[in-house]
Amino acid sequence: MGFFDEPFDLMTAAEGRVEGIAKVTGSGKYAAEYKVDGLCHAVLVGSTIAAGKIKSFNLDNAKQVAGVLGIITHLEKPLVPGLADEDKIKEARLGLAVFHTDKIFFKGQPIALVIAETLEDATYAASLVTAEYEKEPAKLDFELALKNIPLTPAGKDRGNIEALNSAPHSVEAEYNIKAEVHNPMEMHATIAEWKADDKLKLFDKNQGVNNVQRTFAKLFNIPVDNIEVISEFVGGGFGSGLRVWPHALACIMAAKLVKRPVKLMLTRPQMFHSVGYRPAAWQKIKLGANADGKFVGIHHQAKNGTSVYENFNEGITRVTRLIYHFDNLKAEAATVPLNLSTPTWMRGPGDCTGDFAIESAIDELSYKLKMDPVALRMKNLALEKHPDNGLPWSTNYINECIEKGAQMINWKDRKAAHSQTIEGDWSIGYGMAVGAWNAGRGTASAGIQMQKDGTITVQTAMTDIGTGTGISMQNIAHDSTGISKSKIKIELGNSNLPPAPSQGGSNGLSSIGGAVVAAVSALKLKLAEYAAMQNEAYKNAAPADILLSDTGVSLKTANNQLVSYTSLWEKNNLNILEVEASSGPGAERQKYAFCSSAAHFCKVRVNRKTGKVKIERLVTVSDGGKIISEKAAANQMSGAAVGGIGMALMEEQLTDERLGTLVGNDFAGYHFPVNADAPIIEVAFINKPDPNINPQGSKGLGEVGIIGTAAAIANAIYNATGKRLRDLPITPDKVLLG
Ligand code: MOS
Repeated sequence: MGFFDEPFDLMTAAEGRVEGIAKVTGSGKYAAEYKVDGLCHAVLVGSTIAAGKIKSFNLDNAKQVAGVLGIITHLEKPLVPGLADEDKIKEARLGLAVFHTDKIFFKGQPIALVIAETLEDATYAASLVTAEYEKEPAKLDFELALKNIPLTPAGKDRGNIEALNSAPHSVEAEYNIKAEVHNPMEMHATIAEWKADDKLKLFDKNQGVNNVQRTFAKLFNIPVDNIEVISEFVGGGFGSGLRVWPHALACIMAAKLVKRPVKLMLTRPQMFHSVGYRPAAWQKIKLGANADGKFVGIHHQAKNGTSVYENFNEGITRVTRLIYHFDNLKAEAATVPLNLSTPTWMRGPGDCTGDFAIESAIDELSYKLKMDPVALRMKNLALEKHPDNGLPWSTNYINECIEKGAQMINWKDRKAAHSQTIEGDWSIGYGMAVGAWNAGRGTASAGIQMQKDGTITVQTAMTDIGTGTGISMQNIAHDSTGISKSKIKIELGNSNLPPAPSQGGSNGLSSIGGAVVAAVSALKLKLAEYAAMQNEAYKNAAPADILLSDTGVSLKTANNQLVSYTSLWEKNNLNILEVEASSGPGAERQKYAFCSSAAHFCKVRVNRKTGKVKIERLVTVSDGGKIISEKAAANQMSGAAVGGIGMALMEEQLTDERLGTLVGNDFAGYHFPVNADAPIIEVAFINKPDPNINPQGSKGLGEVGIIGTAAAIANAIYNATGKRLRDLPITPDKVLLG
């Protein structure tokens, strides 16, 4: 595909999504949009304090609202067997065992659920529920709280960190990143219907239907197969759908209580404390290098916020071990409990945060060394093997990402010293940074149903959260069968389909691709088996020798012997031919290490009077192995880059310790980039298959698009202004005062 020798033009790319028409015409249904007979509505009531205990409720006023069908509190609720006692609650690892405690851990914590005939009734009645509390002091200020939390080792030390003390050049600095909220376009929602006492049907927004199924099977002590989870269309997730949250359980409990299907959709403000967020982080880096730029070592310390009821360690120092040679390395970490809901994985979790500090420090060091930041990185990349486990990389083209990115942005136009290019009120600068992510793969299953006319439907339970899994599966099925794309349908996001891992950690396509290839092999063998009844040549044919077309099956070794699907179907009295197969990682994981990577280059304009930062150009080049669907992949990278702009310049979840509350839990108070804040992202891929990771050779792209973006922007701001800004987001006040 010579196509990728040129940067990808998202605007003119031809290939749309398999679900594109359904999405843009509105016929595709998201969790809250299904029509279900007898549906009623549930609305959560949140705690008005951030810490303490519920003393009593006043439900009288709410109960009098016409249409109210029931109210759940921890005092009055349907039985959840998996939360029957303290031990079970612990074992369930739900985080917040909603309605199973009188303790309050954060403001907004669900304390009651009102179920009514209409959403309006439920909303009104919920507003009338009040509680009396025993209030305790709450901790919400991360920067204050972190001071008392000691660090502990995060993984094994390498070499001796004392070596840093004698490094001729070094940087030592602290970095702070505010909490960020996923805010996918579609709010989380569940429709729950008990089809029988032990049979549950859910329409639910999540990133893994099988995970949802397993979680509730355990909680309600019913077989996994008795729970059907449908998540056919998911309007973004970024990690917020990777675990089961209290609202979904609340909805199911409500359906149990009123013995009717119940819908619960979070409001946008509720989204800010109900489905996780990227926790606030503090980091300290000490980085040293020899006079020639060779790194001596790194000491990386990190703390992230968590809740008081659950420990979420996001692994900020994981990426420290991934990209560069550091003969001497020490990593330490800690979590800081706060009276907030539990954070969770958010795009590029951990690595995105750690990478900002490392890539900022490297940039700072490059100025001390008077070395080009590109050259400094090139000198220190660990290109042969994973620096921690010593396994050779299966493929790692991070150096090519850097070279290509530098070319695309015209890196040679960058001035080596800062503050060199001024146009009126604007200072112009260039910056870059890299990112990497362990490229994983899980075991997944896919099924294929074939019709007489040669149409195939490829199926998996995996959800497509907007990443392009569907179109990618279609491409893989087309490549491995030869059947026209117009005759390949895709079905996903339904627990009745062959099981698959959750879509997360950039593992989706890496996992499901192999399953599609395996299912295609199974289909070929099955067709050959039937064909052998008509034609001896097909007996014991190997999948590699079996060719499919739109009209029939043939053999590579016996050209003109096409056996039509029509004849196979008629002779064997077939209706639908069905196959299913699984595929997953194997021995290659003991032989090789796998990573995806990206290089980000940025040109900024910084207004010296207002502190406004304008991203003029943002270039993202990534090694995601073979690119299966150009447009979907470019879309992933482009979306991640815009997320990176948000992280760098705008996104912050603010808290007020005095009020015990989040500040700005809506899109007026929480800012992220709109079109005017982002240029057209310039995306390119190395597009070389990884021969070992999976049959299609693709490595995950979801995370690397955002790992490094914020540092590239901060580094460009330094190049433009000479201001080294180490706290995100870099809002205009910081630029002016920095
Ligand atoms: Mo993502 S944080 O892997 O959904």
